[in-house]
Amino acid sequence: MYRSERIWLIAGIITLIVFLGILGVAAVHDDIVPPSHLKTIDPAKIAQTPPFDNPGLRRLDAHTYEAYIVARIFSFNPSTMTVPVGSTVHFYATSPDVVHGFFITNTAINMMVVPGWVSEDSHTFETPGTYLLLCNEYCGSGHHFMYGEVVVK
Ligand code: CUA
Repeated sequence: MYRSERIWLIAGIITLIVFLGILGVAAVHDDIVPPSHLKTIDPAKIAQTPPFDNPGLRRLDAHTYEAYIVARIFSFNPSTMTVPVGSTVHFYATSPDVVHGFFITNTAINMMVVPGWVSEDSHTFETPGTYLLLCNEYCGSGHHFMYGEVVVK
């Protein structure tokens, strides 16, 4: 084995040990774990499980809303939500059938909606306009018809 090969091999092994060590320290000492969904739901019983038994937008105060949305082939329920400018909307979405996407244009909201789980994310809508809500996970023959909108005015 060439000397340069041995140096690269040793450097690679040391790097691996250092990286695994960092992961180990972060996981055990700093308690850093991969993000995980904490909320589960029985996908067969969404229609009977509050708050998804009554999907829609709820007003918490003048500028805070919660939106409970059921994504199913091939629609979002509700498909249109209207909020005043400056509103923070906490989105909660789940699916009774297959994996869907939940992407709102011109925001950082881009979630997977997986049966059995409740996906959540929030956004403050500072600019008036119509924001498209799109399914960006291929979910079947009607995937390209699956969209909604958030109207901010
Ligand atoms: Cu739902 Cu694509």
